[in-house]
This record gives sequence, C-alpha cells and structure tokens, in this order.
Amino acid sequence: MSFWDGKNVMVTGGASFIGSHLVDDLIALGANVSVVDDLSSGKLANLTPNPRLKFKKMDLETASMTAIKKVFKGNEVLFHLAAVHGGRGYIDTHPADCSSNFAIDHRVFDAACASGVERVAFASSACAYPPRLQESFSSDYLLKESDSDIGKLKEPLSADLEYGWAKLMGEVQLRSFVRQYGMKGVNLRFVTAYGPRENETHAIVALIHKAHERMDPYEIWGTGEQSRDFTYVTDIVTGTILAAEKVSDGGSINLGTGVRYRLKDVAEEIFGIMDWRPKGMKFDPSKPTGVVSRALDISRASRLLGWEPKVGLKEGLQKTIGWYTSTHKRKGRINEKILLER
Ligand SMILES: NC(=O)c1ccc[n+]([C@@H]2O[C@H](COP(=O)([O-])OP(=O)(O)OC[C@H]3O[C@@H](n4cnc5c(N)ncnc54)[C@H](O)[C@@H]3O)[C@@H](O)[C@H]2O)c1
Repeated sequence: MSFWDGKNVMVTGGASFIGSHLVDDLIALGANVSVVDDLSSGKLANLTPNPRLKFKKMDLETASMTAIKKVFKGNEVLFHLAAVHGGRGYIDTHPADCSSNFAIDHRVFDAACASGVERVAFASSACAYPPRLQESFSSDYLLKESDSDIGKLKEPLSADLEYGWAKLMGEVQLRSFVRQYGMKGVNLRFVTAYGPRENETHAIVALIHKAHERMDPYEIWGTGEQSRDFTYVTDIVTGTILAAEKVSDGGSINLGTGVRYRLKDVAEEIFGIMDWRPKGMKFDPSKPTGVVSRALDISRASRLLGWEPKVGLKEGLQKTIGWYTSTHKRKGRINEKILLER
C-alpha cells in the first residue's frame, strides 16, 4: 500500500499544466483528490474525470477565509500550486498581477493550518534565487538551496522580479507556519518545467508554436545564448510527491536536471524533431529574456528523496511536440498575444 492510498489530498491550482499532471499521478497512487482552481489559466479539460476526483471553482485571493477553510477541511495533505504566473513574457509585463501571489500564499497557508491540514507542499520557483548569480553567459554554476536560505532571515535575500520575491516570501511564510504551529511543510523550487498542457508564454512551447506555424525568419527572444535547466513535467511531479511524503521541516528543495541548454540549441533540436527548419533566424534582445544562465544543483533532492530526473531534453521535446502538433491546428501565423498573456 502506498503512502497515498486512500489519503485525502487537496491540490490548489490543480487544473494547471503541472497541477493536472500531479493530479493524474496522485489518483494513480490511490489518493482521493480535491482540486480548487479559479480557471484563470488552468483548464477543466486538463482534468480526467474520475470518481476519486472533485473540482471546486474558487478564487483563493477573494473568497472568504471561511469558504476556503471549508473546502480544505478533511484533507491530510495540500499541494499549493495556485499562482498568478506565466513564462518570462508574462511575469515581466504583469508585475502587479504577480504580486497577488503574496496574498494568495498567505491565505492558503493560514486556511490550511486552521482547517487541520497536516502537510503542505508549496510550488516555489528557481526565480527565488538571486539574479546576480545568474548573469554570466559562460557560467557553469549550479544554484544551491543555501543561495536563498529561508532559515537565515538576518542575511540579505534577493529574487527575480515580483514573481520571484512572492515565491521566496511564500517559502518564508510556509516555514513560519511549520515553526509556530508544527504544521509539516516543504518548498519545491521548480525550474523551467515543460511538457504537454503548458502554454505559449513559456520558452519551449513558444519555440514549438513558432516552428509549428512555420515562422520564417524564425524569431528567438534575446540573443539565443541565454540558457536554462529545462525539466520535464513528469520529473517535477515525481519529485514533488516524494518531497511531500518525506520532508516536513519547511525547508527548500531544488527540482531540476542540473544541465543547461542555450535557447538557440533548443530551437535547433525542435527543428530536427519537426523535420523543418526556417531559412532565416532573427534574435530580438528587446524582448523579455530574464537572467542569462540558470541551472540547479539537485544533490539535496537526490540525497533526501532518492530522486533523479529521468526524461532528457530530446525525449521531453519529442513528447511535447507530439502533444502540441496533435492538439493545435496550424494557422500559418504567429499569435503574439499568446506569447505574453497566460
Ligand atoms: N511552469 C513552470 O516552469 C514553473 C516553474 C516554477 C514554478 N512554477 C509554479 O508551479 C505552479 C503551477 O504552474 P503551471 O506552470 O503549471 O501553470 P499555471 O501558472 O497556469 O498554474 C497556476 C494555476 O493557478 C490557478 N490560479 C491562479 N490564480 C488563482 C486564484 N486566485 N485562485 C485559484 N486558482 C488560481 C490557475 O488557474 C492555474 O490553474 C505555479 O505555482 C507556478 O508558479 C511553474
């Protein structure tokens, strides 16, 4: 019998890209899953109907605390993924919207604690790391949990944009509930997740969209030299579930691959898999690009969880392209709006 068999589990933001994959796995592990989501970017179609799956549409920023506590009650574990979030194009251009995460996170942790939820796993982000450690093109530095240490509040902290600060403060908040009320908690720092059901504000799906629409000259935001630690969604989900089961001290854990790829190399892989390449390439440094180089040290996840990512970039791209091309009709033009709006 698994840890999850028969457990009542709440997933906030469960209709999202990562959230819906998490729900699939929890159901497969035998849990009874409740999803709360306002469907602002999540989609009901991401959830496969199941007798052990319940859905409630609710805005966690504006609903009354009484209503939130009522839906959380009876759940032993809560995964908190609800957030105002998108890819770089979105978080760069929507700072005030992303700031609502400060409120959402507090309300969720407070309601979880008050309604007797035992464990909370929070979807944090590599944006919780100091940008100054990610500014060199030739960097091979892997960001360690101690580079943004929420246990050392007297030390200087720094994060990437309002979105990153909200994630960092979300972690600080969750740890404060662990310290004061004995709630069990863990913060998971996801990095550039990709896979089926993700939207085009995120780099890999945006690159696939442009190739699918045969954009020529093909445009890449920035110089194309910027690099990221792209992590396939099923690996993120496996690590998240293991962490919720095994870690309870309110600490932080990186979930990534430890390998970085330049955006222009990812585009080349996509052309190869799609058996198409543009005649021309265009780089636009005026577009939002974020930090120059980002990858995570995953040794803590490996040590504490016995977890390793399993899906390499090529296999992940094949699966994501397979999903995208089978679910999106080609229109022969780029929809600039969907690159910026979640
Ligand atoms: N995708 C990534 O690369 C990545 C990287 C780091 C962290 N994360 C985090 O993982 C989580 C899931 O992200 P995602 O990429 O799967 O998709 P997403 O950003 O679309 O997920 C957010 C979900 O929260 C819901 N939501 C937003 N505001 C809400 C509110 N006020 N009340 C209730 N629900 C609300 C949305 O409808 C959506 O389903 C988010 O917390 C995100 O910040 C994602």
